[in-house]
Amino acid sequence: MNRDHPHDNNSGFQLSGAVCLVTGGAQGIGRAIAITLIDAGAHVHVLDLDQVALDRWRGEGTGHGRLDLHAGDAADPDVVADLLRTLERMDVLINNAASPFYCPFEELTRQHWEQALRNDLHSAFECSRQSVPKLRASDRAAIVNVASIEGFVAEPGTVAYGSVKAALLQFTRALAVDLANDWIRVNAVAPGGIAVERNRQVFQQEPCKSLLADRVPLGGVPGEPQDVANAVLFLASPLARYITGATLVVDGGWLAKA
Ligand SMILES: NC(=O)c1ccc[n+]([C@@H]2O[C@H](COP(=O)([O-])OP(=O)(O)OC[C@H]3O[C@@H](n4cnc5c(N)ncnc54)[C@H](O)[C@@H]3O)[C@@H](O)[C@H]2O)c1
Repeated sequence: MNRDHPHDNNSGFQLSGAVCLVTGGAQGIGRAIAITLIDAGAHVHVLDLDQVALDRWRGEGTGHGRLDLHAGDAADPDVVADLLRTLERMDVLINNAASPFYCPFEELTRQHWEQALRNDLHSAFECSRQSVPKLRASDRAAIVNVASIEGFVAEPGTVAYGSVKAALLQFTRALAVDLANDWIRVNAVAPGGIAVERNRQVFQQEPCKSLLADRVPLGGVPGEPQDVANAVLFLASPLARYITGATLVVDGGWLAKA
């Protein structure tokens, strides 16, 4: 990271030549983030469990030659080590992998709980831990964690999901402090309701439609993956040179009203 000279114009949004890793980037918000970083000039590595989604994307042949798709579990130390070994350097890590789900507490199993911990939190820990030596060598190192407003407010059925997202928010602040001496910036985004393939129809039906109408001041509708990707790009870019330990909420005003 350039410690001395803040950018004074939009060229700071550029990530030309940066090498980025996006976990859980095969679809949804992660895919929008990956494409946005590529459009900003970065070379992006995506690590995702979902082989089908990765194959679908591979078949599309997009990425301007600056996209590598890897199948694997971002919470598995060996998988992460194998991938990082292939990278000469690394500038940006986006911890986006998660298995978002809602489940009433009485139906929540130990398996659900451990799955939430593994996919949302252990993945962020493992990828951050193993990336730091490479990030330390970068002059524009940034980590962005994709949390959720459910790390701040409780909605029904979010005991597991909300708990791991709250932990990810504190992980962000604590890691930011620990890595500040190396000028590795660590920030988070906290999306509200965002329409992805998995939930787009649910948002158009009751009771979600009325919930959004009631909670979201900006139009009563969900956001789009690109809304989150734009916030991630800002936090990953040199324009955010002096921002660390922060959480940027992308929720159409949901939290402001809560
Ligand atoms: N969509 C929303 O409304 C919303 C709201 C708030 C926060 N978020 C957060 O945004 C992020 C992306 O969510 P999304 O809605 O795009 O979900 P999604 O289910 O469309 O995508 C998540 C991806 O993560 C992958 N993944 C899960 N565990 C993994 C692991 N251990 N290793 C590698 N890949 C793994 C999945 O295979 C999937 O491709 C998540 O962190 C989610 O919690 C989403």
